[in-house]
Amino acid sequence: MQARIVGILTRAKEQGMDYVSGGDIARQLGISRSAVWKYIEAIRSDGGIIDAVSGKGYRLVNSEDLLLPGTINVETDVIGREYVYLPEIDSTNSEAKRRIRTGCSDGLVLVAENQTAGRGRMGRPWYSVAGKNLSFSVVLFPAGLPLSRAPLLTPLSAVAVCRAVERVSGLSIELKWPNDLLISGRKVGGILLEAGGEMDHLRYAVIGIGINVNLSREELPEAVADTATSLLIAAGQAVPRRRLLEEILVSLDSYYTKFCSKGAQSILTEYVELCSTLGKEIAFLWHGQRHSGRAVSIAPDGALIVITKSGEMLTLRACDVHCL
Ligand code: BTN
Repeated sequence: MQARIVGILTRAKEQGMDYVSGGDIARQLGISRSAVWKYIEAIRSDGGIIDAVSGKGYRLVNSEDLLLPGTINVETDVIGREYVYLPEIDSTNSEAKRRIRTGCSDGLVLVAENQTAGRGRMGRPWYSVAGKNLSFSVVLFPAGLPLSRAPLLTPLSAVAVCRAVERVSGLSIELKWPNDLLISGRKVGGILLEAGGEMDHLRYAVIGIGINVNLSREELPEAVADTATSLLIAAGQAVPRRRLLEEILVSLDSYYTKFCSKGAQSILTEYVELCSTLGKEIAFLWHGQRHSGRAVSIAPDGALIVITKSGEMLTLRACDVHCL
């Protein structure tokens, strides 16, 4: 019911209506006015700022930023068929894996306002600030996809997110292999892919996406203040989180359906165009030893091909690279 009220108030705002009366909402939903008031209070405690004026009704003030069910409106084939909003959770990727164990839909999207134990690649923590970031995970059950092709979901997601961010913010984004979104060399977002299966059969994939949206310079967590940025800092103005999330879900859905029907080739071509690691001298750990070399290309499975100083060609998969 909460989602339906948020939906009514969001649509009213989009149609230029100012306030919707409690009586109107009650009639549309077949509930009492006091029930409407009770749900309005619940929406407020989930972060919805609702202005109430006697004789006029209710108005949703922050619909641009609100990620509650009812505000999100996307037409997709798979992604977002089920949408869950969590005011607080340890990590949306961990919650996704718990829900996979108990049963959930293909395309489930789990959005958290706040993560208490957000995770990044290679076991690193992922810092976010409630209300200022986008932190969400998408669950996929890709029928018939071999486990060995699961890593392709990282470049796919990186390209999809990059294109959506560019459309909404007007900023140009580059990708650092394999999963970092950068603006002018600073990290603005990342992707954490976790997949599971047996033998060569992929059972599930969880795509976790974190983006620094509306953090000011002062709000950047101290641990990443020297290396990170946000869309607000880069664009010089706030970016509407709701529209950004909708755009990302639609973009992910379109790249994913293309991947399922046509394969990864055209997506990898786009990834190569966006990947600023290519052509650079990089340092990386290889079997516990520090190496350096030139990043030359992306393999058909998304791995990074590097030519070392001694002319050896290496294929990097689960690896961290630093541009020199
Ligand atoms: C990285 O840059 O290493 C990946 C960061 C991924 C962060 C997102 S936020 C939503 C999802 N839940 C997590 O715990 N991590 C991912």
